[in-house]
Amino acid sequence: MKTPASLATFLLTAAMVAPLHAQDAGDPRHGLSLARQVCFECHAIQPQQLLSPNPRAPTFPQLAATPGMTTAALTVALTTPHAGMPMFRLSSEQREDIIAYILSLRSSNSTPGK
Ligand code: HEC
Repeated sequence: MKTPASLATFLLTAAMVAPLHAQDAGDPRHGLSLARQVCFECHAIQPQQLLSPNPRAPTFPQLAATPGMTTAALTVALTTPHAGMPMFRLSSEQREDIIAYILSLRSSNSTPGK
């Protein structure tokens, strides 16, 4: 009865490794739909929006164009509270999706005609 148990362990390990890899990059499309729900009330989240609803909040394209606004910097920004910005309950996967979306605006910035 040892074989089924170790097979189960193997399958479980394989199932845990696969999502970890998918998570590395983040999914920008999922990030956009999350941003529409969580960030939208204060931040302009799309390139077509020139002004944030909350004038103190930088637009996402502005964030993407800010030098040094890397994945690491965005992770810090989203895991520490700062003035005027409430703490979010994002899973690390949701956070990575949103960060992937913000950083994806970098390339769409350089091609204004879409
Ligand atoms: C209630 C309004 C509000 C919401 C909701 C909000 N923000 Fe902000 N955010 C702000 C304001 C205001 C600032 C500017 C804060 C400052 O300069 O101290 C800011 C700043 C930031 C910054 C820059 C931080 C830095 O260190 O420069 C990032 C990144 C950011 N927000 C991301 C997000 C993301 C991603 C979401 C959605 C998950 C979100 N925000 C939702 C109001 C908001």
